[in-house]
Amino acid sequence: MTESEGIERYIQPHLRGFSGYSASTSPDTLKGKVDVLLDKIIKMNANENPYGCSPKVIKALAKAANLNIYPDDGQQELRRLISEYAKAPAQCIVAGHGSNTLIDFLVRLFIGPGDEVINAVPTFDIYRFSTQICNGTLVNTSRDEKFNIDVDAMIHAITPKTRLIFLATPNNPTGNITPREDILALIKTGLPVVVDEAYYEFSGETVMPLTNDYKNLIVLRSFSKWAGLAGLRVGYGVFPARIASAMMAIKIPHNVSVAAEIAVRESLDDLVYLQGRVKALIAERTRMFSELQGINWLKAYPSKANFIYCAVLKGSAGDLHQKLQKKGVLVRYFDNPLLKNSIRISIGKPEHTDALIKALRQIEL
Ligand SMILES: Cc1ncc(COP(=O)(O)O)c(C=O)c1O
Repeated sequence: MTESEGIERYIQPHLRGFSGYSASTSPDTLKGKVDVLLDKIIKMNANENPYGCSPKVIKALAKAANLNIYPDDGQQELRRLISEYAKAPAQCIVAGHGSNTLIDFLVRLFIGPGDEVINAVPTFDIYRFSTQICNGTLVNTSRDEKFNIDVDAMIHAITPKTRLIFLATPNNPTGNITPREDILALIKTGLPVVVDEAYYEFSGETVMPLTNDYKNLIVLRSFSKWAGLAGLRVGYGVFPARIASAMMAIKIPHNVSVAAEIAVRESLDDLVYLQGRVKALIAERTRMFSELQGINWLKAYPSKANFIYCAVLKGSAGDLHQKLQKKGVLVRYFDNPLLKNSIRISIGKPEHTDALIKALRQIEL
């Protein structure tokens, strides 16, 4: 018996064949595989902010003197600062090491073996990932050809075992938003509804004010995209007060680093600068969308996020992804039952769009 055969039987049965989450390719891993220098790679595969974070963050981190001290586990200052920005009471806010980990804590809080999570696919894969880790049952409902959710199907999917409903708006990877009436219809079921607004700053649409009226609504946000803090990992959620206390109780201690805390403070102190960058990305989204429409073998879908989803109408998305990667342009590609032959391209700076379009024009499929 090999060591792995022996020890494998101690892994929980439902996790033995678990394939995990497929994260985006990092440029560091591409040495020798691309025709450009690694620092010339154009990264349009993870919806990061190509302008980086606020310069104030870099300055403050360079002189941070307290990196040897654990952050405040109660997140008092962080919750107060986020409360002003999100316009929600501080006691309802919980911050996390990226909003991903808040999704994970939420699933741990609500889901036991066999409990059901309603999902609207295709969507952000972490809802599936966390549900399966907790041995919950994912109940997938389909979206239509424009990726709108099917509210009736979602409501119809409710059973006595339903514990959570997840909804990303704008949706990743399709970029469309869910109309407020549809979200309200889900909230009115009385079940816990998680509205994931990781891309809110690019859509300008939010259901945050509804958290005052509905005690089953949870709104998640991220600093990764609009504030350019993906590498520092910080997100937050606004929860009903009772759920916020439960989240604070089950979260891993000190789950937001001192560096991330500093970055949040400085970002919120530099809103005009960061909002200017968001505006530039929104303008570039419009330009990239019209440029993509000039490529007749791609079908670009309208987006309210910082990326554009495209169906690949000729050849394979996997090949296209490889060919673009060879030229130093990274995009995300999908080819699975939920997301057939398609790519998702993050919005970059104007020169990134130009390089992408040039590369697309050169590629023969
Ligand atoms: C819909 C959605 N929610 C949440 C996240 C997680 O963001 P983070 O963990 O970086 O805050 C992402 C990241 O891609 C996302 O697309």
